[in-house]
Amino acid sequence: MSLKPEDFFKNVISHCKEYGYIFQSSEIYDGLSAVYDYGQNGVELKKNIRDYWWKAMVQLHENIVGIDAAIFMHPTTWKASGHVDAFNDPLIDNKDSKKRYRADVLIEEHVAKIEDKINKEVEKAKKRFESFDEAMFRSTNGRVVEYQTKINDINNRFKAALNAGNLEEVKQLIIDCEIVCPISGTRNWTDVRQFNLMFSTQVGSVSEDSNTIYLRPETAQGIFVNYSNVQKTGRMKIPFGIAQTGKAFRNEIVARQFIFRMREFEQMEMQFFVKPGTENEWYDYWKNNRLKWHLSLGLGDKNYRYHDHLKLAHYAKAACDIEFQFPFGFKELEGIHSRSDFDLMQHEQFSGKKLQYFDTDDNKSYVPYVVETSVGLDRLFLSIISSALREETLEGGETRTVLGLPPALAPIKAGVFPLIKRDGLPELAEKIVADLKLDYLVIYDEKDAVGKRYRRQDAIGTPYCITVDHQSLEDHTVTLRERDSMQQVRVNLTDLNRILDEKVSLKSLLRTLI
Ligand code: GAP
Repeated sequence: MSLKPEDFFKNVISHCKEYGYIFQSSEIYDGLSAVYDYGQNGVELKKNIRDYWWKAMVQLHENIVGIDAAIFMHPTTWKASGHVDAFNDPLIDNKDSKKRYRADVLIEEHVAKIEDKINKEVEKAKKRFESFDEAMFRSTNGRVVEYQTKINDINNRFKAALNAGNLEEVKQLIIDCEIVCPISGTRNWTDVRQFNLMFSTQVGSVSEDSNTIYLRPETAQGIFVNYSNVQKTGRMKIPFGIAQTGKAFRNEIVARQFIFRMREFEQMEMQFFVKPGTENEWYDYWKNNRLKWHLSLGLGDKNYRYHDHLKLAHYAKAACDIEFQFPFGFKELEGIHSRSDFDLMQHEQFSGKKLQYFDTDDNKSYVPYVVETSVGLDRLFLSIISSALREETLEGGETRTVLGLPPALAPIKAGVFPLIKRDGLPELAEKIVADLKLDYLVIYDEKDAVGKRYRRQDAIGTPYCITVDHQSLEDHTVTLRERDSMQQVRVNLTDLNRILDEKVSLKSLLRTLI
């Protein structure tokens, strides 16, 4: 029996806790809203995802290098970047439930509901007609055309209101769409207000000479302010990229859905500096490249889609999300943004330093344009772990819980077990662990029956289990059991390293990208 999405999502959250993936921050003090800690397995999975991204960006591209900038930056950075003035979310409160919402999210969710209705009509028609032309159906079916017109009207009004900064019109749109508060069920809304998302703190003693500084809300600015340093010291020629991973902080108004929207999270960003006029070409290139990277994880092609932005961030000329089908629906996973020369120009102006590139091909200087790829590491983690978790019913009615993580990302690559705790089997198993641990995180386990040990590793997501039995002492072979198929094969001890290298190394994933 399949679970309702909300129940499945609750299972994901409790599985993450039970198996040492994610704990609520400061749980013994009842937690801190929208802040989470990664446990012993979570930290490994997160590190493997980060490494895969880093290698795909920096190692596979000769023209991309990495940096690690500080979280604290000179406060003028955020004035120049526009975050002090424009990094706002429009918020609205329901007066009856006293719950606060992002006005744009309320409208987007309303539009998504109408889109769902269209998709249902399309699916119904697909089943009814043998030869089915979807584009024709969408443009001629009365009900679908009516829904689509409604969506276009809402989107157009919304875009115009945001571009004009007309918050009254945003509220009016919420009223006209008859959007109700999911808690109180009423339409008793406050006015829409803007709310800045940056956290601030003080450097120096808290006295007159103390200075307000911000916790960075995106890692990108650390790259922009280092553009010249890297370009000159690395003798980089345009086009080239700078990649960075690290923490970012946002005082999110609506911080729900576990690690999907956090107040402290990690970003993996890459700014690609290009010659003005070539930015559209590179925007398309990075849209394709990043989708290909996501698809390589094998979580299912149909779980991804592009979504072009209606509301552009203050820096963007064009922007698109790669969305993923989370347990609570399709949502943004990664953003690809064409940022023009906005950031470098702003930093030139505010710092008084030239941030230009001398193009030896054209013999002239210019401020490069930037195409950015920006993905949240925690969101990626959620997309991977929620697609991996499944409950299987085996022959005979027994069930098993499997975390079918991509093997190259799994925290533990192999569990090594002696079949029983005597006759020299533990010693051989420990010797195998000592050998493999130079390359991989492997664990030794001798507790409980071997079937139970397999189940434990299935639930953690360990792709392979290696069992040492009496035959191993005679012929130097072991049983290698694969998590997903549960198939067991006998392999030579001397082949173990090569097999793991083929099946669970990051190399096995990186190979699919080239
Ligand atoms: N430098 C561009 C930038 O920061 P963004 O769309 O605001 O763009 C990029 O963020 C990515 O960072 C998002 O696609 C998402 O994966 C992640 N992200 C943003 N806010 C987040 C939050 N509060 N919690 C977790 N991840 C977040």
